[in-house]
Amino acid sequence: MTNRDNSLTQEERQGLYRTIVTRRDVRSQFVSDPIADDALARLLVAAHWAPSVGFMQPWSFILVQDMAIRAQVKDAFEKASAEAALMFEGERRDQYKTLKLEGILDAPLNLCITCDRDRDGPVVLGRTHIPTMDLYSTVCAVQNLWLAARAEGLGVGWVSILDESRLKTILGLPEKIVPVAYLCIGHVDHFLDAPELEAVGWRKRLPIEELVSIDSLNGERAISPSFLEALRQAQKQAEHGTLGRTEA
Ligand SMILES: Cc1cc2nc3c(=O)[nH]c(=O)nc-3n(C[C@H](O)[C@H](O)[C@H](O)COP(=O)(O)O)c2cc1C
Repeated sequence: MTNRDNSLTQEERQGLYRTIVTRRDVRSQFVSDPIADDALARLLVAAHWAPSVGFMQPWSFILVQDMAIRAQVKDAFEKASAEAALMFEGERRDQYKTLKLEGILDAPLNLCITCDRDRDGPVVLGRTHIPTMDLYSTVCAVQNLWLAARAEGLGVGWVSILDESRLKTILGLPEKIVPVAYLCIGHVDHFLDAPELEAVGWRKRLPIEELVSIDSLNGERAISPSFLEALRQAQKQAEHGTLGRTEA
């Protein structure tokens, strides 16, 4: 196989895909070992290297170390999660109550990634017509950090079952700062093979071919049989953790 100057080596490419398909949302497998400063620094810089609208870089990173603050976040989670349980009915509600949906006090570190909607003034290149682009940019930073963490053998869990205004008060965030992601980070004793919600039967991963269309969302034109097969093969590889691997 030729390796053009702008492509990764086969090993690098496989490493990237392996990181993507083995990344997990972690809440039950944290161990208490501290995170080394250099690894944490790499995670934060990886996040900072994310794309952003107009190169706005709207993110900030709050390392939440104080256990008293974390206890307040945990309380906020408990309250929101009790409210959330009531939004489901019957067996779904019973199952919801059995799920562990946060690792706030188990993980050695919590991290809030925020978005400063005013970072580059009111008119931002690229954000002129869709104002939420700065929030999307911040989510790109979250994903960069999540993948970098997986590459370092660190687990990340995203806690979103929180009243946003309560979280802002706990962290002392001003009006224009949005807490985009509240994350729990730490070493893990293992990474699950599949999403926990899939393993417990909450929801399955959708087949990729149902999510791809041509020209419009419900496009008339069918995907070619060969591309359809390629999509299925790639999804199968991802399920086996071998996405991007080519047979020797
Ligand atoms: C925006 C966002 C918010 C999430 N919030 C929570 C949460 O509050 N609690 C939780 O247990 N998982 C949360 N998750 C994790 C998802 O449940 C998880 O990504 C999904 O089940 C797929 O599993 P995987 O990440 O291990 O592949 C969140 C994920 C995202 C992207």
